[in-house]
Amino acid sequence: MSTTTQDRSVEQLVQGRDTQDGAGVRLTRVLSHDLQERLDPFLMLDAFGSDNPGDYIAGFPNHPHRGFETVTYMIAGRMRHKDSGGHEGLLQNGGVQWMTAGRGLTHSEMPEQEEGVMEGFQLWLNLPAKSKMCDPWYRDIQSHDIPEVTTNKGVLVRVIAGQSHGTHGAMQRDHTLPIYLDLHFPAEADVVFEQALPHTHNAFVYVYRGGLEVLHGGQATEVPIKRMAVLNNDGDTLVLRAKPNTRAILIAGQPLNEPIAQYGPFVMNTREQLVQAVDDFRAGLMG
Ligand code: CO
Repeated sequence: MSTTTQDRSVEQLVQGRDTQDGAGVRLTRVLSHDLQERLDPFLMLDAFGSDNPGDYIAGFPNHPHRGFETVTYMIAGRMRHKDSGGHEGLLQNGGVQWMTAGRGLTHSEMPEQEEGVMEGFQLWLNLPAKSKMCDPWYRDIQSHDIPEVTTNKGVLVRVIAGQSHGTHGAMQRDHTLPIYLDLHFPAEADVVFEQALPHTHNAFVYVYRGGLEVLHGGQATEVPIKRMAVLNNDGDTLVLRAKPNTRAILIAGQPLNEPIAQYGPFVMNTREQLVQAVDDFRAGLMG
């Protein structure tokens, strides 16, 4: 199937669902189960943002993961991470933690602030079947280690993964080839941003300040604040036009096209592998 247009259009707008996780952290689940096949290789996206400590102070005490990667991007705030492998790190303003759960670990993510704003995202990126039982791994990427590029229209792009306008991101991954960009539009209105995006990549945009439009074949589809636009796989370029000071994350990846079996914090390919994961956790094999 081919079309004459090359710019991605919007397939659907998704409003996140307010929920709680961890020991009672309030967050918005933007990408959930019903979109896992459509947005393969991404399994989940949570947005959190509050200046009320009661919404975040309880944090995420010890819990296990197996079979995928978690990517936590802290826009504002401080969170301490500890895992069963003895790793510890402080995730703060503008930094990212990229963790590969692989065959399994237990970790905690606890706020290290008692007041002020805590805002950010946690994305779950699936691992290919052959890598699900790899060694656990993680990297704390401080804010100043995230490559940035400013387009000639004045859009600041923080390149967490993949590449944008010739700048390679802090992380590159085989198989899923993820692109993870944080876009900061300037104070002027109607500034346009273009991003190369292979049409085979599943992709979405989430707006967390301001608002923008996706431009496609002479049409403009509005994406308001706190909405995720799932993009059609109908072009190799994404064109956005934003309100002043808009901020949005753009996430894309090559689908794995493998079965997805999830039980809470375990994401494997079959039910049998999930039963094994639960058994292994109970036997203390995840630390
Ligand atoms: Co976790």
